[in-house]
Amino acid sequence: MLKKLIAGNWKMNLDYQGVDALMDDLVEQLSPETLERADIAICPPALYLSRALERAQQAEISLGAQDCADQDNGAYTGQVSAAMLADAGCSYVIVGHSERREYNGESNAAVKAKAQKAIAHVLTPIICVGESDAQRAAGQAEAVVGQQLKESLPDNAEQGSDIVIAYEPVWAIGTGNVASEDDVQAMHAFIYKQLSERFDDPENVRILYGGSMKPENAAGLLALPHVDGGLIGGASLKAESFLSIASCA
Ligand code: PGA
Repeated sequence: MLKKLIAGNWKMNLDYQGVDALMDDLVEQLSPETLERADIAICPPALYLSRALERAQQAEISLGAQDCADQDNGAYTGQVSAAMLADAGCSYVIVGHSERREYNGESNAAVKAKAQKAIAHVLTPIICVGESDAQRAAGQAEAVVGQQLKESLPDNAEQGSDIVIAYEPVWAIGTGNVASEDDVQAMHAFIYKQLSERFDDPENVRILYGGSMKPENAAGLLALPHVDGGLIGGASLKAESFLSIASCA
């Protein structure tokens, strides 16, 4: 069985003081028992990666970024490359989060290009997919996620462990409306089936669930087949709730 991955997506939150306080709490509260059961990662805003690095290493927490450029370097004002993130100590980078797809107009092709740059620089991309509420209501959830997978998976992923998938139904993100266990189980089984067509070792691709995961629902979700961890937004901003989710792994 795969070791679960519990990743915190801090989004555009906190300041230097807040980062220091949260990292202090994580260092103090993360237990060896939790670390034995789960790999823990945090994805701070790019500017705070260096600020979090030392304490993250101290606590055996991996560092991830929330996005990367689809180019190696050059005249791309405002962007941060996968190579720079690797330099800053990252092991992961989230690509294709629904907030970036929506607010920054990122297409599947752009997500794929970013994931490819991540792998080229030895980062593991956490590739996000998920349907909107209208798409689910129209019975298109699997079709949407299937197409996102088909078009966003990087060509240079050679084995399952090169990537992580995060299934994040858009209507569950930041809303408190967690998907039902039945819906999560069905979608994760569907994603696993799609991955089986792409990889010889689909069992090595971690498939995370994300969307209003919190201490109260984490144990049930993390116990479902093909749920190999969680991508946690709001609840990752407090050590207590983040680590309480991680302890359910
Ligand atoms: P949430 O966010 O846990 O606050 O719903 C999850 C995410 O967007 O990754």
